[in-house]
Amino acid sequence: MNLDFSQIVPHIPFILKGIGVTLQFVSVSLVLGLALGTILSIFKIGRFAFLRFLADAYTSLFRGTPLILQLMILYYGVPQFGIDISAYVAGVLAFGLNSAAYVSEIIRAGIRAVDKGQQEAAVALGIPYRQMMTNIILPQAFRNILPALFNEFINLTKESAIVSIIGVMDLMRRAQVVNAQIYRSFESLLLVGLVYYILVMLLTIIGRLIERRLQRSD
Ligand code: ARG
Repeated sequence: MNLDFSQIVPHIPFILKGIGVTLQFVSVSLVLGLALGTILSIFKIGRFAFLRFLADAYTSLFRGTPLILQLMILYYGVPQFGIDISAYVAGVLAFGLNSAAYVSEIIRAGIRAVDKGQQEAAVALGIPYRQMMTNIILPQAFRNILPALFNEFINLTKESAIVSIIGVMDLMRRAQVVNAQIYRSFESLLLVGLVYYILVMLLTIIGRLIERRLQRSD
């Protein structure tokens, strides 16, 4: 056993700077995923068969292949077509496009989970479709969707560690950079492991608070 944390102490600020990079990366990806995922979910519950097919095919493709592959295609493959793409942009695109597939399912399932009687009652009362959606169905669906979206946020935070392989200076990458300088893998990996864990715990707590609030307004 040979653990020595004294050597990584001077590198701690460098590693902790990765928190901002990771959180920003994940947030931008999530916003992108949310925007595209919302559009896809509208296609999925809509009445145009072709759009439904497109959205389903999209989800199937992005969930059916590894995220790391999608990342590599964007970063190493796309420049072959003369398009310059930075590691950060390739990362955000890969994560955003991938997340959209998951988000679209979260939203679709959240809307479908609203009791059918709600729609039937609205129709019986002669409430127009748009009004029924915005005033009756969506507010209830929101309660199913938000906790699941937080879960997606947490998943993305952990998965984001793989952007380190294309050189984005996130938490994970910073641990590797420090390793290369002091040859102390265990200590630096343990440190970022702890940081990831704390981040995920914080997100979990925030998610629970929101969930409880939504239940209270029931
Ligand atoms: N690790 C898995 C993959 O490579 C899961 C990706 C999860 N993505 C998400 N947006 N939740 O495909």
